[in-house]
This record gives sequence, structure tokens and C-alpha cells, in this order.
Amino acid sequence: MNIVVSNLKGGVGKTTTSVYLAAAAVARGWEPVVLVDADRQASSAEWLEVAPIEGVDLVEAPSERTVARALAGHGGLAVVDTPPGDERIVRAALEKADAVVIPTRAGGVEYSRVAATLEMVAAGTPHGVVVCAARLGTKDLDEAVAWWSEQKVAVWGIVPERVGIASGPESRLYREGIDIYATVLKKALRKRPT
Ligand SMILES: Nc1ncnc2c1ncn2[C@@H]1O[C@H](COP(=O)(O)OP(=O)(O)OP(=O)(O)O)[C@@H](O)[C@H]1O
Ligand SMILES: [Mg+2]
Repeated sequence: MNIVVSNLKGGVGKTTTSVYLAAAAVARGWEPVVLVDADRQASSAEWLEVAPIEGVDLVEAPSERTVARALAGHGGLAVVDTPPGDERIVRAALEKADAVVIPTRAGGVEYSRVAATLEMVAAGTPHGVVVCAARLGTKDLDEAVAWWSEQKVAVWGIVPERVGIASGPESRLYREGIDIYATVLKKALRKRPT
């Protein structure tokens, strides 16, 4: 089972989402759980170096060849953190995706980059957006949720803006974050092939 976390736009929450999804997968009993870091910036790899998560194996795979190899035959659940710019690596990861999680933000000009990302997802591959660092109760958030519903794109999660999540590896994984990402994981796995 391969879950690819992708958005061609930078700084939206891909790495944070990948790390939390991997932790949520361990909590749900998946084994092995592999966090595949396909981004040369190696943010996921650095996160796990500073703050390892028991039950999560890290594989650095910042090329088309290595990411394809990392996603074949691990026998468990892989979560792939992808780079913002490199469409070829993103494409290589998406080719192996059983589900695609698209982190995004409310407000601003988010939609075109998500649309470009969605165009790269194969027809029939389950996908949903996760609104990261959301400010609950704001007009921006309501408008974003309404927009995705109009576009017929599922919203798999709304993750509130939290200092505990923003501190990354410098603090422990935030309980509320793991719980929300557990529901995202459940939605991503719902249509999984048996
Ligand atoms: N729920 C949240 N609450 C607060 N801050 C958040 C939340 N989710 C993500 N962030 C912050 O948003 C910033 C961008 O997140 P992240 O690094 O995960 O994005 P990214 O898409 O992987 O970026 P890049 O494109 O550079 O790889 C980080 O500072 C992160 O801590
Ligand atoms: Mg990142």
C-alpha cells in the first residue's frame, strides 16, 4: 500500500503530513511502515534523525529510480513525502500510488497548483485534500471547504494551526495531530484494493 503526499506548491504541509501519517499508520498496527523521502531537501529524513518514530523506517529516495524501487515490494504501508518542484520525481511516485493525499492551505492562490497536481493523478486513484494549519472558524477556511466541495474533490482532513505541530521534530508529535491524521489515513485506505 503506497500513500503519496503531494502538492507541486512548496511549504503547504507535505512533510508534516507525511510524518504524521506514518506515525498514525504505526498506531493503527501497520507493519512495516516506511517513510519514503523523495525530496532532495530531505526534510522528512532530518525530522526522523532528530526525532525517530518507533516502527517507522526511513528510506531516502530523491530520484525517479530510487522512489520507484522504494515503492515496490515493501509489503507494508509506505508514505511518500515528495518535493514541491520536481515533476518527474512526483510523477514517478504518483505512478505507484494507491492513494494520494494533497496538503493545501485555506486562502490565497492555492487552487491552481492543486489542480496541476490533480492532473498528474491517474484516473481512479483515490485522492483527497488536507487543509493544513487551518484557522478554525475563519471565512477563508469555510470558503476553501466550499470550493473543494464544488470541485468535487474530497476533503480528507482539516488540521488546525498548532504550535506543537509547527515545532516539527523539536517537540513530540502532537496528540491531536496524530488523531486527525489517523482519520485522514482511514479515508485514504477506504478504497484500497483487497
Ligand atoms: N497544522 C499545522 N500547524 C502549524 N504549522 C504547520 C501545520 N502544518 C504545517 N505547518 C508548518 O508549515 C510549514 C510548512 O510545512 P511543511 O514543511 O510540512 O511543508 P512542505 O509542503 O513539506 O514544504 P516544502 O515544499 O518546502 O517541502 C512548516 O513550518 C510547518 O511546521
Ligand atoms: Mg517538505
